[in-house]
Amino acid sequence: MDSLKIKGGRPLKGDVEISGAKNAALPVMAAALLTGGAHSLKRIPNLRDIATMGKLLSYMGAEYHYDQGAVTLETSRIKKHEAPYDLVKTMRAAVLVLGPLVARFGNASVSLPGGCAIGARPINLHLMGLEKMGARITLESGYVHARASRLKGATICFDMPTVTGTENLMMAACLAKGTTVLENAAREPEIVDLADCLAAMGAKIYGAGESTIEIQGVDELRPIAAYAVIPDRIETGTFMAIAAACAGDVTLKGCRPDHLDSVIMKFKDAGVAFHETKKGLRVVGPRRLTARDIKTTPYPGFPTDMQAQFMAMMTVALGTSVVKETIFENRYMHVAELKRMGADISIEGGIATIRGTEKLKGAPIMATDLRASASLVVAALCARGESIIHRIYHLDRGYDHMDEKLRGIGAQVERIKSS
Ligand code: EPZ
Repeated sequence: MDSLKIKGGRPLKGDVEISGAKNAALPVMAAALLTGGAHSLKRIPNLRDIATMGKLLSYMGAEYHYDQGAVTLETSRIKKHEAPYDLVKTMRAAVLVLGPLVARFGNASVSLPGGCAIGARPINLHLMGLEKMGARITLESGYVHARASRLKGATICFDMPTVTGTENLMMAACLAKGTTVLENAAREPEIVDLADCLAAMGAKIYGAGESTIEIQGVDELRPIAAYAVIPDRIETGTFMAIAAACAGDVTLKGCRPDHLDSVIMKFKDAGVAFHETKKGLRVVGPRRLTARDIKTTPYPGFPTDMQAQFMAMMTVALGTSVVKETIFENRYMHVAELKRMGADISIEGGIATIRGTEKLKGAPIMATDLRASASLVVAALCARGESIIHRIYHLDRGYDHMDEKLRGIGAQVERIKSS
C-alpha cells in the first residue's frame, strides 16, 4: 500500500487544473446501461473508483475503454444483470447499476454494499422507490434481487434526501410506463448533471436540482454522445482548504464556484480571499485563519464531503470552532490522526470542538476513508516537519493525481510505492 511523504510549511503558489467530478461520472457511467449502443463520455477523472465501475460494467458484458479523460462504452451485449460482492464491497456506488438494470432488463441482482468507515450506508430508500414502481424485491445471502416486467410511474417521497437514491430512481423512471415524481429528492449538482445527460439521451426530466423531480417515462433512450461531466466541486473545495490552511495563493482552473456557495461563504468568514480571474478562481489564504463553526447538511448546505478538510483548517485557526456532522454517523475518523499531529480536538455527543493551535507537527498518520485522507493532506501541508500518510489508496479513489497537482503549486510531496 502506497504512502505519501509530505514536508510541511512550504509556501504554496500556482495553478491547479480541476478534474471531472467522481460523483457525476459514476452515475453517468451507470446510465449507459439504460440503452444499447456506443456511448462516449468526457472529462472523466482517472480514479480507482472509475476503474472499478469500468470493471463492473465490463463484467456485465459492456466494452469499456478509458483514455485520458475520455470513456467509451458499448452496452449492446449486456449478458449479466448482476453486481458481485467483490466489486461492490470496494465501491458502494456500484449500487447505481440497480435502477438501470431493472428498467432495461426487468431484473437485477446487486450485492448489498454493506457499511463503510463513515457509516452503515443503508439502501432502503432505493429499494422502497423501486417497490413503489412495481419491482419485486427479495434479499438473499447478501444480495438484493429486483424483478419487474415493466416498471410503472409512481410518486416516491424520500424520508431524507439521498444522492444515489435519487440518481437510481431517476434512471429507473426514465424507462418506466407513466410519470414518476420524486419528492424530498437530493439537490446536488451531480443530480443535475445526471439529469442533463439523461435528457441528452432523450429522457423527459423536469426539476432536477430542486426537491421535486418529475420524470415522464419513454420507451427507449439514445446512447450518450460526448457528454462532459461537471468539474469536481469537492476536489475544488479540498484545494481551497489547502490554500486556506497554508496561507497559499492558488488559482483553481476549470472549476464551478457556483457549486460551492456555502463553502466559499464559510471560508470568507474564516478570512480566505477569493478572486474570479480569467484563468480561474484565485484563492488566497490569510496569515492565520479565524475559527468558524460548521454544520453539514444536504445541498445547498455545507457538504459533508468537505467536513474533514474544514476541520483540518480549523486545527490551526485563531479561536475555537464547533463542527457538527449530521449526514453520516461516524465521519470523525480523521480526528484521532489529526490529534497525533498536535491538534486539540474533543468529541462529545457527535459534535467536535476544535481549539486552534499555532502549528501542527508532522507525524506518521493513516488514511481511513476518502475525505479523511484529504483532511490529512491539508494538515500535513501546513504542519511543521515531515508527515507520512499511510494507506493512500483511499485518496486515489477520489483524487486524480493529487501528488502531482500538489507539486505543481510548490509542495514537497513524494509518493512512496509499497514493496
Ligand atoms: C453520496 O453518497 C456520495 N457518493 C457521498 O460521497 C456523499 O458523502 C453523500 O452522497 C452525501 O452527500 C456518491 O455520490 C457516489 P446518501 P450516498 O444516500 O448517496 C441515509 C465521497 O466522499 N440513507 O445521500 O451513499 C444515509 O445513511 C462520497 O465521494 C438511508 O438511510 O449518500 C445518510 O445518512 C462519500 N437510506 C444519508 O441518507 C438510503 O437508502 C445521505 O446518504 C440511502 C441513504
